[in-house]
Amino acid sequence: MQLHRSKKVALKEQIDLSNLPKHVAIIMDGNGRWAKKKLMPRLFGHTNGVKTVKKIVEFARKLNVQVLTLYAFSTENWQRPEDEVSGLMKLLKLYLKQELDNMLRNDISLKVIGDISRLSPELQNDINDAVEKTKNNKALVLNIALNYGSRQEILRACKILIDKGIKNPTEKDFADCLYTKDLPDPDLLIRTSGEKRISNFLLWQIAYSEIYVTDVLWPDFSEEEFIKAILDYQKRERRFGKI
Ligand code: IPE
Ligand code: IPE
Ligand code: MG
Repeated sequence: MQLHRSKKVALKEQIDLSNLPKHVAIIMDGNGRWAKKKLMPRLFGHTNGVKTVKKIVEFARKLNVQVLTLYAFSTENWQRPEDEVSGLMKLLKLYLKQELDNMLRNDISLKVIGDISRLSPELQNDINDAVEKTKNNKALVLNIALNYGSRQEILRACKILIDKGIKNPTEKDFADCLYTKDLPDPDLLIRTSGEKRISNFLLWQIAYSEIYVTDVLWPDFSEEEFIKAILDYQKRERRFGKI
């Protein structure tokens, strides 16, 4: 335990505080496989995934990351069995209930991206309430992607542009119609569980994000793994098309 702690401290000390990613986005994948390995139902994996969320949110705040976006439920995830979907929704409700005080205490502002109108009215209420109560908090923006799909977001942006009567939009006009309009683009995109794909996540916003894929399953993702991702990011040379 002591050894483990000191290893983590040593890793953490390698972080260059002047070159932190401002916005980290995470595709939290692998809950199901984690549960399967333990011969447990998928929902057991999701329950443990929520524990990881709590740890990583806390750690991101401590590290002074400004925005943490977590992909929690995609527009495609409705195609899962009904009991898994309802289990995920219950976990979300519980998370909001358990974490609101913590967000208020720790200066965390909750945001949600995605079409929440398809969620139950009670859940929408809980979300809107938490967003409203935490909106002036400054230490960290916790941005949860819920019933989020990038193609849906892009189509929605096109419709908003049409409604605004903008016939010749600039990139800025377009970005202003996305759910993420008030947020910087992600600097670092992490995907757990080894899959090398984007799964309809932030297609516009990750144009120049650094991508980090780890084989670690989300319930096993830890502060140490997060530090490793940041250290890897800090070794990259971001050229943005220049030389
Ligand atoms: C990620 O874990 C959580 C959600 C998509 C809600 P998965 O449930 O996708 O886990 P795997 O990919 O089946 O292991
Ligand atoms: C992406 O994971 C969605 C979330 C993490 C919420 P999936 O498990 O749904 O992605 P695929 O099916 O492997 O592409
Ligand atoms: Mg998955």
